[in-house]
Amino acid sequence: MQRRRKVIFDTDPSPDDAVAFLSAIASREELEVLAITTVAGNVPVELTTCNALKALELAGVTEVPVYAGASEPLVRRLVTAEHVHGRTGFDGYDLPTPKRQAGTKFAPDAIVELVMAQPAGSVTLCCLAPLTNVALALAREPKLAEHLEEIVLMGGSCFEGGNITAAAEFNFFVDPEAAARVFRSGVPITMIPLDCTHQALLTEERLRVLREAGTPVGTAFYHLLEFNKRFDRGKYGWEGGPLHDATVTAFLLQPELFAGRRVHVGIECASTLTLGASVVDWWSVSGQQANATVLRSVDGEGYIQLIFERLLRL
Ligand code: BDR
Ligand code: CA
Repeated sequence: MQRRRKVIFDTDPSPDDAVAFLSAIASREELEVLAITTVAGNVPVELTTCNALKALELAGVTEVPVYAGASEPLVRRLVTAEHVHGRTGFDGYDLPTPKRQAGTKFAPDAIVELVMAQPAGSVTLCCLAPLTNVALALAREPKLAEHLEEIVLMGGSCFEGGNITAAAEFNFFVDPEAAARVFRSGVPITMIPLDCTHQALLTEERLRVLREAGTPVGTAFYHLLEFNKRFDRGKYGWEGGPLHDATVTAFLLQPELFAGRRVHVGIECASTLTLGASVVDWWSVSGQQANATVLRSVDGEGYIQLIFERLLRL
C-alpha cells in the first residue's frame, strides 16, 4: 500500500493556490497536509493569509493550521499581481471574513519545526509562491535541506518565456534571490514551469463541472476561476487561462500525468533585462550537475479532471 505522504503548502492565495491545497486536503488517503504557510506574492501577506483562511472555512476544514510568513522578498521591493487576481487576490466571489486566525508562529519557523519533528525524508514542501519563506527556513536551520524529502514547486519557465516580464515567471521574478537559494540547497526539487501549466487551460467546458456541482465549494471556485480566466483570455487569446498551482498536487497524486528530465537550473539575479528567469540546461551543455527535475508536459485533461474530482469531495 502507498504510504500517506506528509506535505506542507507554502502559498500566496489567489484561487489556483487554494485549489491546489484544498484538493490535497481532500486526498486524505494519499496526502496528509501538516500546515499551510503564507507569503507575500499575488497580494500582500495579510491578504494571502486571509484568503487561505477563507478557502479553508468555505470547505469546512478546521484541522489544518495556517501560519503567516514573509511580507517582503529577501532583498527587493514586493511586486504583486492585482491586475490578474483583483485587489483582494480573491476577486470574483465574496467569501465571509474568516472566523479563525493564523497561528502565532512565523511561517519559516513553523516550517522548520514541523519538518524537523518528523523522521528525515518524510515531509515534502509544496511551493506555490515566491520562495521567500522557504529560503528563510533553509537559512535558519542548516539541517533542513537534508531532512526534507523533496520540494515540488510551481515556478519558472523552460522554453515558454515569461508571464510577468518577457523572460521571467511571476513566482521567481518576485524573489529571485530566494529561488536561487532554494535551487542551490541540495534538496531534491521537482519544478513545474509555465511550459506545463500553459497546457492545462480552464475552458468554459472544464469550468462547468464546478458550476454544475452546485456545492458551496464548486460554486465559489467556478466564479473565482472564471474571474481569472477573463484576464488570461484577454492576455493570451486562448479559450481559457492556465490553472497553475494545482499541478503540484496533481504531480503528487499522479506523477504519470507529467513528463520531464533531470537538468541544472540557475536563477538570474543580476540582469535587469532577464531578472528572475530560470535558466534551464535542457540539453546538458553547461557541464553543471543536475539540481532539479523539470517537467515540460502534462496531460491537461487528465490533470484538471483529477483536481476537480478531488476539490469537489469537499
Ligand atoms: C504563478 O503566479 C501566481 O499568480 C499563480 O498563483 C502561480 O503561482 C504563475 O506564474
Ligand atoms: Ca501562487
